[in-house]
Amino acid sequence: ARIRHYKWEVKYEYKSPDCYKKLVIAINGRTPGPTILAEQGDTIVVELKNSLLTENVAIHWHGIRQIGTPWSDGTEGVSQCPILAGDTFTYKFVVDRPGTYLYHAHYGMQREAGLYGSIRVSVRKGVKEPFAYDEDRSIILNDWYHRSTYEQVARLSSRPFQWVGEPQSLLIQGRGSFNCSILSTPNLEAGACNMSNPECSPYVITVVPGKTYRLRISSLTSLSALNFEIEGHNMTVVEADGHNVEPFVIKNINIYSGETYSVIVKADQDPSRNYWAASNVVSRPLHPPTGLAIFNYYPNHPKKSPPTTPPTGPLWNDTGYRLAQSNAIKARQGYILPPPVTSDRVITLLNTQNEINGYRRWAVNNVSFTLPHTPYLVALKENLGHSFDQKPPPENYDAANYDIYQVQKNVNATSSNSIYRLKFNSTVDIILQNANTMNINNSETHPWHLHGHDFWVLGYGIGKFDPINDPKKYNLVNPIMKNTVAVHPFGWTALRFVADNPGVWAFHCHIEAHFYMGMGVVFAEGVEKVGKLPSSIMGCGATKGH
Ligand code: C2O
Ligand code: CU
Repeated sequence: ARIRHYKWEVKYEYKSPDCYKKLVIAINGRTPGPTILAEQGDTIVVELKNSLLTENVAIHWHGIRQIGTPWSDGTEGVSQCPILAGDTFTYKFVVDRPGTYLYHAHYGMQREAGLYGSIRVSVRKGVKEPFAYDEDRSIILNDWYHRSTYEQVARLSSRPFQWVGEPQSLLIQGRGSFNCSILSTPNLEAGACNMSNPECSPYVITVVPGKTYRLRISSLTSLSALNFEIEGHNMTVVEADGHNVEPFVIKNINIYSGETYSVIVKADQDPSRNYWAASNVVSRPLHPPTGLAIFNYYPNHPKKSPPTTPPTGPLWNDTGYRLAQSNAIKARQGYILPPPVTSDRVITLLNTQNEINGYRRWAVNNVSFTLPHTPYLVALKENLGHSFDQKPPPENYDAANYDIYQVQKNVNATSSNSIYRLKFNSTVDIILQNANTMNINNSETHPWHLHGHDFWVLGYGIGKFDPINDPKKYNLVNPIMKNTVAVHPFGWTALRFVADNPGVWAFHCHIEAHFYMGMGVVFAEGVEKVGKLPSSIMGCGATKGH
């Protein structure tokens, strides 16, 4: 195994990813940032210099379990204090499993300012993967807002509430196309929106006719659930969140924020033309225009537009279609151990939209999560007293008296930074229960992401989870393991994981605004087994001078 050393500088820069010029947070001048390429077992060292001048930062390595290094998880308030402006912080961790992963800011709402990138971990030399391809490409899908994160945060935390709205455009590998002509602002700086800026020319995936490609598709949207397709080409799904999937063929793939997939695509269509690669919003009625890239058959000109109208994706409200794809994702035979057949504890998490003193929030069992000022990892490991709420959060909601199809009778919630303490090595089931929002006949899709673990996806359903009969239908034979999973509108999703990774781990909705508004929980396990904490993660709250 090798050590891979990266030196990154994080800095605000002007960029025009979708032709509209705005300040983004770039790594070494780029957004998406550099791709981390490694082999299973390698150690990644990222020396991160925060040159944001007046703003803190933290970076999370999404999908990397941080076994033995919980302090490198990069989650501000959970695993570390924020990295102060001007400071350099070193992340060091092992990529212990091959697969497709991500990294992104995990402080405030910095992710949507463009601070993200890909991690690609290949199998060890000599190890053969159960699928073949000639070449490998990473594509990050994203949605893009023109407002600064400061404005977004100010809107979400204002009274009356101001929603951030739908994104202005969809990006494919950091490139999108905003229609500048719809801007009527007379005082816009000349050239601030320029559709012929090469920075926003569509991303090009060049393929050689007859060859086979592994496309590593991931999503880091702030809000949108996406559907991605390559016009006229089938895709065979082979990997999800770093785990081998029993292959299945689809025309387009639904992908939720925080998920990664590998699909195999063969360049087997008419080679005399190019094709659209398209991303479209699903699960929300209002959309930005289709995100477009060019699937370019060599030797056609890479800029040559395909002769066809771009695909517009499936019906936005076809939940059944998305549920069917979720259900189709199974573990590849011989690659994933089945889960323990029983669990030690079941935690049911009701997802609701709420209000606290007139502020709009999201909550889990009517508790809206807030991050503490002292990172839990340090607070627990160093016994820093009551730096967070010690009362355990609720394990359930009043299911018997709750109608998930109605706006909640009492929308008031409480806020807390309390956490679930899990018995080390115990098996935990999580039931994510979706419900109606504060608008009638409305329920959203929430992609939940767990830090520090992969979980088995035991099942999905629509309606209220039935604790007697639904567990009988769990897939205990070949459930996929993932780190991010969707809970569909008015639906439930059941997960199982083993609390075997000493540390403190966030579990939250990957929609950036939802987590910011309280849609998350935290698990702590085996903290007494955590090694000596590096002092570089301290310096804030009760850890001052520690
Ligand atoms: Cu990719 Cu806690 O998030
Ligand atoms: Cu959400």
